[in-house]
Amino acid sequence: MNLAGQHVLSVKDFSLDLINHLFNIAEQMRPYARREKITRVLEGAILGNMFFEPSTRTRVSFGCAFNLLGGEVRETTGMSNSALAKGESLYDTARVLSGYSDIIAMRHPEAGSVAAFSEGSRVPVINGGDGPNEHPTQALLDLFTIQQELASQSLSIDQLHLTLMGDLKFGRTVHSLCQLLALYKNLTIKLVSPEALSMPTKYVDILENAGHKVTQTQDLEAGLKDSHIVYQTRIQEERFTDQEEADRYRGSFRLNKHIYTEFCQPNTVIMHPLPRDSRSQANELDNDLNQTEGLAIFRQTDNGVLVRMALFAAILGVDGQIKNSERNVNWFTGLANQRS
Ligand code: CP
Repeated sequence: MNLAGQHVLSVKDFSLDLINHLFNIAEQMRPYARREKITRVLEGAILGNMFFEPSTRTRVSFGCAFNLLGGEVRETTGMSNSALAKGESLYDTARVLSGYSDIIAMRHPEAGSVAAFSEGSRVPVINGGDGPNEHPTQALLDLFTIQQELASQSLSIDQLHLTLMGDLKFGRTVHSLCQLLALYKNLTIKLVSPEALSMPTKYVDILENAGHKVTQTQDLEAGLKDSHIVYQTRIQEERFTDQEEADRYRGSFRLNKHIYTEFCQPNTVIMHPLPRDSRSQANELDNDLNQTEGLAIFRQTDNGVLVRMALFAAILGVDGQIKNSERNVNWFTGLANQRS
């Protein structure tokens, strides 16, 4: 698949070759994302950033990535601020908004909604999360981060031992990530969750059919032992019809310094798509891990800009022209020499 002019609705459309191509472009974006250099390769282009469900990092990093390529961003946030609240269809909304934009990023609370929107769109649409279904750009940035973190330990994704933990039923990021991981070889994957929030069978089947070893457990020690990477998730309270049920699972399978030191290998990488729920009754990823070298959560968020810049450049067909408009920045760049 060539990404030029394409929608990105699901990770199903990605092959290993395409992922490697995208990650090569993402690497080239580093000096621009770190504000060491400027490129204007998308000067004049407009991103429609349509978020009909709460978001901090996906929405802002899409906008930031587009701006860093020289483009402009038009934004709609919240269902109540849009004509969808007056009964307008996703198809009509897409016909209209695609007349104002060169590309659209969209989040919506219903599974399949972004695909339905894309049918009315005259420009490429990127899925920024559709209900409990998929979050393809998060999975791509997670995979990019996994590759980088493993490379720093001279490891590769093939043979990876990974723990996915928390709300695996409603967590769309792990649904997308499992499908990407199925492209690799000989993975050992442990799924740790309350039984009622276990990984949907279709994703377990995808992993097992790819030859990976999958174990489901509620034993925290067994679930964490020997993993190179632990990927924690939040209880997705917004997906529960009964809030008392969400309350019941909040706080199960926490990860904190004590548990990390006790059950994980010393160089285990900790990931989380964020936001983490820092309220005391949840606290699935404790602040006492903030200074732990293995905590990769803010490297993930920084990588999100690189991967989203790469997607924009590839979809809009300018990935070969990034350096053409390059120049140095003339302000103090605090990011230049920092690691997240
Ligand atoms: N990871 C993620 O999707 O975060 P936001 O909800 O803040 O966009």
